[in-house]
Amino acid sequence: MIESPAFPVMPARFERTRRLRRSPAMRRFVRETTPRPDDFVYPLFITEEANTRREITSMPGQFQISLDHLPEELADLGSLGIGAVLLFGLPNTKDPTASAAHDPAGIIQRAVAEIKRLAPDMLVITDVCACEYTDHGHCGILVGDTVDNDRTLPLLARIATSHADAGADIVAPSDMMDGRVGVIREALDRAGHEMVPVMSYAAKFASGFYGPFREAACSTPAFGDRRTHQMDPANRREAAREIAIDLAEGADMIIVKPALAYLDVIREAREAIDVPLLAYNVSGEYAMVKAAARLGWIDERRVALETLTAIKRAGADRIITYHAKDAARWLADPDE
Ligand code: PBG
Repeated sequence: MIESPAFPVMPARFERTRRLRRSPAMRRFVRETTPRPDDFVYPLFITEEANTRREITSMPGQFQISLDHLPEELADLGSLGIGAVLLFGLPNTKDPTASAAHDPAGIIQRAVAEIKRLAPDMLVITDVCACEYTDHGHCGILVGDTVDNDRTLPLLARIATSHADAGADIVAPSDMMDGRVGVIREALDRAGHEMVPVMSYAAKFASGFYGPFREAACSTPAFGDRRTHQMDPANRREAAREIAIDLAEGADMIIVKPALAYLDVIREAREAIDVPLLAYNVSGEYAMVKAAARLGWIDERRVALETLTAIKRAGADRIITYHAKDAARWLADPDE
Protein backbone atom coordinates (compact mmCIF):
# COMPACT_ATOMS: atom_id res chain seq x y z
CA MET A 1 0.00 0.00 0.00
CA ILE A 2 1.27 3.47 -0.93
CA GLU A 3 1.08 6.07 1.81
CA SER A 4 -0.20 9.47 0.70
CA PRO A 5 2.19 12.21 1.82
CA ALA A 6 1.07 14.81 4.37
CA PHE A 7 2.14 17.59 1.97
CA PRO A 8 2.94 17.62 -1.75
CA VAL A 9 6.34 16.24 -2.59
CA MET A 10 8.85 19.03 -3.30
CA PRO A 11 11.09 18.92 -6.31
CA ALA A 12 14.72 18.34 -5.37
CA ARG A 13 15.65 21.95 -5.92
CA PHE A 14 13.88 25.12 -7.01
CA GLU A 15 14.59 28.84 -6.96
CA ARG A 16 13.68 30.52 -3.66
CA THR A 17 13.39 34.18 -4.75
CA ARG A 18 11.62 34.89 -1.46
CA ARG A 19 14.99 34.56 0.32
CA LEU A 20 15.81 38.10 -0.79
CA ARG A 21 12.50 39.57 0.41
CA ARG A 22 12.63 38.34 3.99
CA SER A 23 13.18 41.56 5.89
CA PRO A 24 13.19 45.31 5.29
CA ALA A 25 16.99 45.29 5.55
CA MET A 26 17.26 42.51 2.97
CA ARG A 27 14.83 44.27 0.63
CA ARG A 28 16.73 47.54 0.95
CA PHE A 29 19.96 45.68 0.26
CA VAL A 30 18.80 44.23 -3.06
CA ARG A 31 16.72 47.23 -4.22
CA GLU A 32 17.66 48.18 -7.78
CA THR A 33 16.04 51.61 -8.07
CA THR A 34 15.53 54.31 -5.46
CA PRO A 35 14.43 57.83 -6.35
CA ARG A 36 16.38 60.63 -4.66
CA PRO A 37 15.66 64.35 -4.27
CA ASP A 38 18.43 64.96 -6.83
CA ASP A 39 16.28 63.21 -9.40
CA PHE A 40 13.47 65.75 -9.16
CA VAL A 41 12.68 68.94 -11.01
CA TYR A 42 9.94 70.97 -9.36
CA PRO A 43 7.58 73.03 -11.55
CA LEU A 44 6.70 76.53 -10.34
CA PHE A 45 3.84 78.69 -11.61
CA ILE A 46 4.82 82.34 -11.21
CA THR A 47 2.12 84.98 -11.46
CA GLU A 48 2.66 88.64 -12.22
CA GLU A 49 -0.05 89.60 -9.70
CA ALA A 50 1.27 90.99 -6.41
CA ASN A 51 1.19 89.13 -3.13
CA THR A 52 -0.46 85.97 -4.37
CA ARG A 53 -0.33 82.36 -3.27
CA ARG A 54 -3.34 80.70 -4.81
CA GLU A 55 -3.91 76.97 -4.64
CA ILE A 56 -4.72 75.32 -7.98
CA THR A 57 -8.08 73.58 -7.54
CA SER A 58 -7.31 70.53 -9.64
CA MET A 59 -3.76 70.23 -8.25
CA PRO A 60 -4.10 70.27 -4.46
CA GLY A 61 -0.86 71.34 -2.78
CA GLN A 62 0.35 73.27 -5.86
CA PHE A 63 0.16 77.05 -5.99
CA GLN A 64 0.39 79.99 -8.33
CA ILE A 65 2.83 82.24 -6.53
CA SER A 66 3.99 85.81 -6.99
CA LEU A 67 7.62 86.91 -6.88
CA ASP A 68 7.38 87.98 -3.24
CA HIS A 69 6.72 84.35 -2.24
CA LEU A 70 9.90 83.06 -3.86
CA PRO A 71 12.13 83.35 -0.76
CA GLU A 72 10.07 80.88 1.30
CA GLU A 73 9.58 78.58 -1.69
CA LEU A 74 13.32 78.43 -2.37
CA ALA A 75 14.12 77.91 1.30
CA ASP A 76 11.69 74.99 1.33
CA LEU A 77 13.19 73.42 -1.81
CA GLY A 78 16.72 73.97 -0.54
CA SER A 79 16.03 72.27 2.77
CA LEU A 80 14.52 69.28 0.94
CA GLY A 81 17.53 68.91 -1.33
CA ILE A 82 15.69 69.73 -4.55
CA GLY A 83 18.12 71.46 -6.89
CA ALA A 84 16.16 72.29 -10.03
CA VAL A 85 12.98 74.19 -10.86
CA LEU A 86 11.00 74.50 -14.08
CA LEU A 87 9.29 77.86 -14.49
CA PHE A 88 5.90 78.68 -16.03
CA GLY A 89 4.70 82.26 -16.25
CA LEU A 90 1.27 83.80 -15.73
CA PRO A 91 1.43 87.25 -17.31
CA ASN A 92 -1.00 90.09 -16.59
CA THR A 93 -1.55 90.72 -20.29
CA LYS A 94 -1.96 88.38 -23.24
CA ASP A 95 -2.11 89.18 -26.95
CA PRO A 96 -2.20 87.27 -30.27
CA THR A 97 1.59 87.26 -30.62
CA ALA A 98 2.61 86.45 -27.02
CA SER A 99 4.67 89.61 -26.69
CA ALA A 100 4.78 89.36 -22.88
CA ALA A 101 6.70 86.09 -23.31
CA HIS A 102 9.89 87.82 -24.47
CA ASP A 103 9.54 91.11 -22.57
CA PRO A 104 12.87 91.67 -20.76
CA ALA A 105 10.78 92.82 -17.78
CA GLY A 106 8.27 89.97 -18.19
CA ILE A 107 7.25 87.73 -15.33
CA ILE A 108 9.57 84.83 -16.17
CA GLN A 109 12.54 87.08 -16.89
CA ARG A 110 12.08 88.74 -13.49
CA ALA A 111 11.49 85.40 -11.77
CA VAL A 112 14.70 83.94 -13.22
CA ALA A 113 16.76 86.92 -12.07
CA GLU A 114 15.17 86.82 -8.62
CA ILE A 115 15.76 83.09 -8.14
CA LYS A 116 19.39 83.37 -9.26
CA ARG A 117 19.83 86.24 -6.79
CA LEU A 118 18.19 84.42 -3.86
CA ALA A 119 19.56 80.93 -4.57
CA PRO A 120 22.47 81.02 -7.04
CA ASP A 121 22.90 77.23 -6.88
CA MET A 122 19.30 76.46 -7.84
CA LEU A 123 19.22 75.25 -11.44
CA VAL A 124 16.64 77.35 -13.27
CA ILE A 125 14.94 75.77 -16.26
CA THR A 126 12.38 77.77 -18.24
CA ASP A 127 9.50 76.40 -20.27
CA VAL A 128 9.64 77.99 -23.71
CA CYS A 129 6.17 78.17 -25.24
CA ALA A 130 3.67 80.82 -26.26
CA CYS A 131 0.46 79.27 -24.94
CA GLU A 132 0.49 81.02 -21.55
CA TYR A 133 0.99 84.39 -23.28
CA THR A 134 -1.41 84.26 -26.25
CA ASP A 135 -4.98 85.48 -25.84
CA HIS A 136 -6.14 82.51 -27.94
CA GLY A 137 -4.20 80.00 -25.79
CA HIS A 138 -2.38 78.37 -28.71
CA CYS A 139 1.33 77.60 -28.74
CA GLY A 140 2.32 80.05 -31.48
CA ILE A 141 1.26 82.46 -34.19
CA LEU A 142 -2.10 81.60 -35.74
CA VAL A 143 -2.83 81.77 -39.42
CA GLY A 144 -6.52 81.07 -39.74
CA ASP A 145 -7.25 78.36 -37.22
CA THR A 146 -3.85 76.67 -37.16
CA VAL A 147 -0.56 77.42 -35.48
CA ASP A 148 1.81 78.47 -38.27
CA ASN A 149 5.04 76.57 -37.77
CA ASP A 150 7.55 78.82 -39.50
CA ARG A 151 6.10 82.10 -38.25
CA THR A 152 6.29 80.72 -34.71
CA LEU A 153 9.98 79.80 -34.89
CA PRO A 154 11.42 83.34 -34.58
CA LEU A 155 9.05 83.98 -31.67
CA LEU A 156 10.33 80.90 -29.83
CA ALA A 157 13.94 81.87 -30.51
CA ARG A 158 13.23 85.29 -29.08
CA ILE A 159 11.53 83.89 -25.96
CA ALA A 160 14.39 81.46 -25.31
CA THR A 161 17.01 84.18 -25.77
CA SER A 162 15.21 86.51 -23.36
CA HIS A 163 15.19 83.72 -20.75
CA ALA A 164 18.92 83.16 -21.20
CA ASP A 165 19.52 86.93 -21.04
CA ALA A 166 17.73 86.91 -17.68
CA GLY A 167 20.06 84.18 -16.43
CA ALA A 168 18.22 80.91 -17.10
CA ASP A 169 20.51 77.88 -16.79
CA ILE A 170 18.55 75.73 -19.27
CA VAL A 171 15.77 76.50 -21.77
CA ALA A 172 13.10 73.87 -22.43
CA PRO A 173 10.98 74.32 -25.57
CA SER A 174 7.61 72.58 -25.16
CA ASP A 175 5.75 73.86 -28.22
CA MET A 176 6.44 70.94 -30.64
CA MET A 177 7.01 73.13 -33.69
CA ASP A 178 9.30 71.53 -36.28
CA GLY A 179 12.77 73.03 -36.42
CA ARG A 180 12.57 74.90 -33.14
CA VAL A 181 15.55 73.32 -31.43
CA GLY A 182 17.76 74.38 -34.34
CA VAL A 183 16.58 78.00 -34.43
CA ILE A 184 16.77 78.30 -30.65
CA ARG A 185 20.31 76.90 -30.61
CA GLU A 186 21.35 79.34 -33.32
CA ALA A 187 19.73 82.32 -31.62
CA LEU A 188 21.31 81.45 -28.25
CA ASP A 189 24.74 81.14 -29.84
CA ARG A 190 24.36 84.43 -31.68
CA ALA A 191 23.41 86.15 -28.41
CA GLY A 192 26.50 84.80 -26.64
CA HIS A 193 24.64 82.04 -24.81
CA GLU A 194 26.53 79.16 -26.40
CA MET A 195 26.85 77.54 -22.94
CA VAL A 196 23.09 77.48 -22.24
CA PRO A 197 21.75 73.97 -22.95
CA VAL A 198 18.49 73.18 -24.70
CA MET A 199 16.34 70.59 -22.94
CA SER A 200 13.83 69.59 -25.56
CA TYR A 201 10.35 68.24 -24.96
CA ALA A 202 11.09 65.96 -27.91
CA ALA A 203 8.42 63.31 -27.45
CA LYS A 204 5.43 65.27 -26.23
CA PHE A 205 2.12 63.60 -26.79
CA ALA A 206 -1.29 65.27 -27.30
CA SER A 207 -2.54 64.11 -23.92
CA GLY A 208 -5.66 64.35 -21.83
CA PHE A 209 -3.34 64.30 -18.81
CA TYR A 210 -2.49 68.01 -19.27
CA GLY A 211 -5.98 69.10 -18.18
CA PRO A 212 -5.15 70.40 -14.67
CA PHE A 213 -2.03 72.19 -15.95
CA ARG A 214 -4.13 74.27 -18.29
CA GLU A 215 -6.11 75.51 -15.31
CA ALA A 216 -2.85 76.17 -13.46
CA ALA A 217 -1.25 78.03 -16.37
CA CYS A 218 -4.43 79.55 -17.82
CA SER A 219 -3.44 78.11 -21.19
CA THR A 220 -6.50 76.25 -22.43
CA PRO A 221 -6.87 76.89 -26.17
CA ALA A 222 -9.90 79.10 -26.90
CA PHE A 223 -10.86 76.69 -29.70
CA GLY A 224 -9.53 73.46 -31.16
CA ASP A 225 -6.71 71.43 -29.62
CA ARG A 226 -3.01 70.71 -30.02
CA ARG A 227 -3.20 67.56 -32.12
CA THR A 228 -1.64 69.13 -35.21
CA HIS A 229 1.66 69.61 -33.40
CA GLN A 230 1.74 67.35 -30.34
CA MET A 231 2.16 63.63 -31.02
CA ASP A 232 -0.48 60.98 -31.40
CA PRO A 233 -0.42 58.82 -28.22
CA ALA A 234 -0.46 55.72 -30.42
CA ASN A 235 2.97 56.32 -31.98
CA ARG A 236 6.09 54.77 -30.49
CA ARG A 237 8.30 54.73 -33.58
CA GLU A 238 7.47 58.36 -34.27
CA ALA A 239 8.71 59.26 -30.77
CA ALA A 240 12.10 57.78 -31.66
CA ARG A 241 12.10 59.90 -34.82
CA GLU A 242 11.21 63.10 -32.93
CA ILE A 243 14.03 62.46 -30.46
CA ALA A 244 16.56 61.79 -33.22
CA ILE A 245 15.56 64.99 -35.03
CA ASP A 246 15.89 67.14 -31.90
CA LEU A 247 19.31 65.66 -31.10
CA ALA A 248 20.43 66.34 -34.67
CA GLU A 249 19.29 69.96 -34.27
CA GLY A 250 21.41 70.30 -31.14
CA ALA A 251 19.27 69.33 -28.14
CA ASP A 252 21.42 68.61 -25.06
CA MET A 253 18.74 66.75 -23.10
CA ILE A 254 15.45 65.12 -23.97
CA ILE A 255 12.06 65.03 -22.25
CA VAL A 256 9.37 62.39 -22.71
CA LYS A 257 5.93 63.62 -21.64
CA PRO A 258 3.62 62.46 -20.07
CA ALA A 259 5.42 59.74 -18.11
CA LEU A 260 3.19 57.03 -16.79
CA ALA A 261 1.27 56.05 -19.91
CA TYR A 262 4.54 56.25 -21.89
CA LEU A 263 6.98 54.11 -19.91
CA ASP A 264 7.72 52.09 -23.05
CA VAL A 265 8.74 55.28 -24.85
CA ILE A 266 11.01 56.19 -21.92
CA ARG A 267 12.64 52.75 -21.95
CA GLU A 268 13.18 52.83 -25.69
CA ALA A 269 14.64 56.34 -25.55
CA ARG A 270 16.98 55.26 -22.74
CA GLU A 271 18.34 52.42 -24.90
CA ALA A 272 18.72 54.63 -27.97
CA ILE A 273 20.33 57.83 -26.67
CA ASP A 274 23.17 58.74 -24.38
CA VAL A 275 22.19 62.28 -23.38
CA PRO A 276 20.30 62.94 -20.11
CA LEU A 277 16.70 61.77 -20.35
CA LEU A 278 13.87 63.35 -18.39
CA ALA A 279 10.28 62.27 -17.94
CA TYR A 280 7.49 64.70 -17.10
CA ASN A 281 5.11 63.25 -14.51
CA VAL A 282 2.35 65.63 -15.60
CA SER A 283 -0.52 67.43 -13.90
CA GLY A 284 -3.20 64.83 -14.64
CA GLU A 285 -1.03 62.06 -13.24
CA TYR A 286 -0.60 64.08 -10.04
CA ALA A 287 -4.29 65.02 -9.88
CA MET A 288 -5.44 61.40 -10.14
CA VAL A 289 -3.25 60.34 -7.23
CA LYS A 290 -4.40 63.31 -5.12
CA ALA A 291 -8.06 62.75 -5.88
CA ALA A 292 -8.06 59.02 -5.17
CA ALA A 293 -6.04 59.61 -1.99
CA ARG A 294 -8.54 62.21 -0.80
CA LEU A 295 -11.33 59.71 -1.27
CA GLY A 296 -9.35 57.24 0.80
CA TRP A 297 -9.11 54.86 -2.14
CA ILE A 298 -5.33 54.69 -2.35
CA ASP A 299 -2.36 55.45 -0.09
CA GLU A 300 -0.85 58.61 -1.61
CA ARG A 301 2.66 58.10 -0.27
CA ARG A 302 2.86 54.55 -1.49
CA VAL A 303 1.39 55.22 -4.90
CA ALA A 304 3.41 58.38 -5.55
CA LEU A 305 6.71 56.74 -4.59
CA GLU A 306 5.81 53.63 -6.60
CA THR A 307 5.10 55.87 -9.60
CA LEU A 308 8.38 57.78 -9.30
CA THR A 309 10.30 54.54 -8.84
CA ALA A 310 8.64 53.11 -11.97
CA ILE A 311 9.51 56.16 -14.05
CA LYS A 312 13.14 55.93 -12.96
CA ARG A 313 13.19 52.15 -13.46
CA ALA A 314 11.86 52.69 -17.01
CA GLY A 315 15.02 54.68 -17.68
CA ALA A 316 14.43 58.35 -16.85
CA ASP A 317 17.50 60.03 -15.33
CA ARG A 318 15.45 62.88 -13.92
CA ILE A 319 11.74 63.39 -13.25
CA ILE A 320 9.77 66.61 -13.50
CA THR A 321 7.12 66.14 -10.83
CA TYR A 322 4.63 68.03 -8.69
CA HIS A 323 5.22 65.37 -6.05
CA ALA A 324 8.88 66.43 -5.70
CA LYS A 325 8.57 68.08 -2.30
CA ASP A 326 6.35 65.39 -0.78
CA ALA A 327 8.55 62.67 -2.21
CA ALA A 328 11.71 64.28 -0.84
CA ARG A 329 10.08 64.38 2.61
CA TRP A 330 8.94 60.77 2.41
CA LEU A 331 12.32 59.57 1.20
CA ALA A 332 14.00 61.26 4.16
CA ASP A 333 11.82 59.11 6.43
CA PRO A 334 11.58 55.71 4.74
CA ASP A 335 8.92 53.29 5.96
CA GLU A 336 11.03 50.34 4.78
C1 PBG B 1 3.03 73.99 -22.74
C2 PBG B 1 3.09 72.99 -21.64
C3 PBG B 1 2.05 72.15 -21.20
C4 PBG B 1 2.56 71.41 -20.15
C5 PBG B 1 3.88 71.80 -19.97
N1 PBG B 1 4.19 72.75 -20.92
C6 PBG B 1 0.63 72.08 -21.60
C7 PBG B 1 0.23 71.76 -22.96
O1 PBG B 1 0.99 71.32 -23.81
O2 PBG B 1 -0.96 71.99 -23.21
C8 PBG B 1 1.80 70.40 -19.37
C9 PBG B 1 2.38 70.02 -18.06
C10 PBG B 1 1.47 69.27 -17.17
O3 PBG B 1 0.37 68.84 -17.53
O4 PBG B 1 1.86 69.10 -16.00
N2 PBG B 1 3.55 75.22 -22.34
